[in-house]
Amino acid sequence: MIGVFDSGLGGLTILRALATRLPERNFLYLADHANAPYGNKSATEILGLTHANLDRLYRAGCRLAIIGCNTVSVVALRPVQRAWLPDRWPGRNALGILVPTVEAITGIKWDAAAAPDPSPIGTVAIFATARTVDSAVYPIEIAKRAPSLKVLQHPCPALAGQIESGASEDTLRHMIARYVGQLYARNGGADPDWVILGCTHYALVTDLFRAALPAHVPIVSQPQAVAEGLAVYLARHPEFDPAPRDPAAPRFPRCRFLTTGKAHIVTPLARRFIEEDYLFEETD
Ligand code: DGL
Repeated sequence: MIGVFDSGLGGLTILRALATRLPERNFLYLADHANAPYGNKSATEILGLTHANLDRLYRAGCRLAIIGCNTVSVVALRPVQRAWLPDRWPGRNALGILVPTVEAITGIKWDAAAAPDPSPIGTVAIFATARTVDSAVYPIEIAKRAPSLKVLQHPCPALAGQIESGASEDTLRHMIARYVGQLYARNGGADPDWVILGCTHYALVTDLFRAALPAHVPIVSQPQAVAEGLAVYLARHPEFDPAPRDPAAPRFPRCRFLTTGKAHIVTPLARRFIEEDYLFEETD
């Protein structure tokens, strides 16, 4: 069983791609609604919450946890992998969503010996939380591999919270149109060559971003990139999910859904955005 964790519902976009790409695996999804949203919290707070959520997933029997959250991936994953995990949960692992996303943007493998020549050229717009933008991890990691790419990050500080509080589609549409307008103003009115929704919550409203952007500007799918990355990782490291279920076995339950919040609020909200019957259970 593979764990997937996010502050709230955004990571369901990652879970859905993982479950489609890896139909033989079982997943445990954990949403930390009691503390969502994370995007405006301090790095120290996010690290503490990450420890608590990984503890929940490992205690439930996961050997591998996917952090389906950009904010946590850029702020907390490195310290978790370097010190906390080996000390507290030896033999378990946690993977974030930064690496496959940077690979998808640059077209370059994370551990490639040398950057290709010529380096890809163009402008990548990344919409993300304030904490992800402040960390500057995306521009730093992209510049190491593809220095000719211009990265334009744009924070959408209120968006994840509005999604979680069930704001109307109209409210979300106006908010997104405003953020997209701000990004264009910063770019002198020019189109970016690619857009990344660098917060998994924003992928829940991809259609609204799609409508706010010109049709010819592609939105790179982060969930798909993460799913491809996990398939490759599991082929190399079968020890982290050693007994995949028989794909011919009955399909349910192959995913379970936990929230630290209120299940009767979370379940219908998930259905609104993801159009699947994901039944949440409450966890401490
Ligand atoms: N879904 C998260 C991300 O990808 C964070 C949203 C939030 O809790 O602010 O960044």
